[in-house]
Amino acid sequence: MSTKDDFVCLITGASSGIGRAAALKLAEEGARLILVNRSEERGEDARREIIEQSDNEEVQLFPTDLARQREVRELARIVRSRYDRLDVLINNAGVYLEEGTLTEDGIEKTFAVNHLSHFLLTNLLLDLIKESAPARIINVSSNAHRGVDEIDEDSLRGPPYNGLKAYAQSKLANVLFTCALANRLEGTGVTANAVNPGMVASGFWKNKSNILGRVMQFFQPFMADADESGEALRYLAVSPEFDDVSGKYFDKKSEADPSSACRVGANASRLWELSEEMTGLA
Ligand SMILES: NC(=O)c1ccc[n+]([C@@H]2O[C@H](COP(=O)([O-])OP(=O)(O)OC[C@H]3O[C@@H](n4cnc5c(N)ncnc54)[C@H](OP(=O)(O)O)[C@@H]3O)[C@@H](O)[C@H]2O)c1
Repeated sequence: MSTKDDFVCLITGASSGIGRAAALKLAEEGARLILVNRSEERGEDARREIIEQSDNEEVQLFPTDLARQREVRELARIVRSRYDRLDVLINNAGVYLEEGTLTEDGIEKTFAVNHLSHFLLTNLLLDLIKESAPARIINVSSNAHRGVDEIDEDSLRGPPYNGLKAYAQSKLANVLFTCALANRLEGTGVTANAVNPGMVASGFWKNKSNILGRVMQFFQPFMADADESGEALRYLAVSPEFDDVSGKYFDKKSEADPSSACRVGANASRLWELSEEMTGLA
């Protein structure tokens, strides 16, 4: 991987925190970058800073609300029409929401943003990624995936809402998706891995008023900044060490065991089937 000169890398959630730190490092590495986030203003701010600090002009921004499947489809269409390769896809954007909300597609928003948008985007870009092999897909999960044993399918369509459970099951979905994807990609030269980027003082806990949010805000000054997590994403994206590593879970740069729920093949198959139904890919 690291021998490719002008590799193309798409990273979601690149306007802030871990995604922004990883994007800067990949720009310094010489990547042609595709930044994706929701707010055009924050995205432009990140794009300008990344160009200035890396001296790499090849940084494009495509503002997209990942909660809206029609915007994800449009993003995939634009990427396919403007780029002839995609070497690294980093599915990083994520939210933790205190209040339950349904998206315009009628889906619980945490699951829609953290998992389904990335499931849809990855599948719509998969031919391009395979044509670019060797290539890598990295799904940013969290240790929070250990908080639930299964995806509660009823909770994805409406109340009652539990923010912590919704976040945990979206992060479990990131790992299950990675396992199912890695199986499907065997023999293609494309790898898929999941990573826990570690606890980071980022935009993630801003404006959260519940107990967990207040506790996390209190501890922010003692948490790492996003740099170390961004470096872990860069390393997983380009290090030759991972050329043939697929279907694994990483704690930053080190391979780790995911929860036991991730090792049940039926869970990954069911999530794939469900995600196809919920994105209209079936
Ligand atoms: N921070 C932690 O302690 C921690 C720990 C474990 C795992 N993680 C995971 O790491 C990833 C990044 O987290 P972070 O801490 O860097 O968070 P962050 O600073 O809050 O950044 C989140 C990013 O996601 C984007 N985003 C949110 N909703 C979006 C939407 N609907 N459409 C498009 N983009 C959207 C944001 O874009 P806008 O600027 O446009 O809103 C922003 O770029 C997440 O998947 C999170 O679950 C974080």
